[in-house]
Amino acid sequence: MSSPGYLPLQGQTALVTGASSGIGAAVALALGAAGASVGVNFRSHPNEARAVVNRIREQGGRAVALRADVSLEAEVQVMFAAMEDTFGRLDVLVANSGIQQDASFADMSLAQWQRVLDVNLTGQFLCAREAVRRFLAQPPSQLSRARGKIICMSSVHELIPWAGHVNYAASKGGVMLMMRSLAQEVACHSIRVNGIAPGAIRTPINRSAWSTEEAHERLVRLIPYGRVGEPEDVGKAAVWLASDDSDYVVGTTLFVDGGMTLYPAFKDNG
Ligand code: BGC
Repeated sequence: MSSPGYLPLQGQTALVTGASSGIGAAVALALGAAGASVGVNFRSHPNEARAVVNRIREQGGRAVALRADVSLEAEVQVMFAAMEDTFGRLDVLVANSGIQQDASFADMSLAQWQRVLDVNLTGQFLCAREAVRRFLAQPPSQLSRARGKIICMSSVHELIPWAGHVNYAASKGGVMLMMRSLAQEVACHSIRVNGIAPGAIRTPINRSAWSTEEAHERLVRLIPYGRVGEPEDVGKAAVWLASDDSDYVVGTTLFVDGGMTLYPAFKDNG
């Protein structure tokens, strides 16, 4: 399927939020390598976003860096308008921006609760709404069976409860039902909405969970497949979900987690 020269997204355009680092950067690079023109959204790291843009261009692709805080309606609208001005249309949105602000429940401030919900859930709402509006307004694609595709970046914690991270788990549980409800609502317009639920992927968001030998060993015990995921593992999943290879996949969460959601602690217990 991913043989050299196979460009499933050739000529299409994709906007990836939170694409200056981690999973978002890998998704932007993978979509670019699959032939898409890519909007690389960032909020506070312009140099990192430009580096992603340059790597896509070096691969022969087209890309542009777009600044916006996804939790702010006006900035999201300006970003989508800039995307359209640059590339003419939108075929794929990967709503990926996400943060953690961890605290034990009793110590969690309203600001920590609110900021995580604002970015992880409201940010996806604002971007997905803008994408749907544009998919409906623009002429149908000549290059894809779908009128548009949305991929919501979730987490294994849309399913696995996570003590000490209640704000984050609540946001991802929300992403899951927002994604499924939206998928149900817009499938009749040939818009496909799906989610990806990464497990433990080696990125800055969870550095403390893999950067020391001891932490890494503890983490790998939670992963039946026996390795921490790489951002590229998620990039490949995003290419597939954005392409017509997954044309009949609607409203599904694709877990990319090395089996983390198989409850490995139960293997010899329970
Ligand atoms: C979190 C990471 C965590 C992983 C598995 C992700 O959604 O952002 O910090 O390592 O889930 O628990």
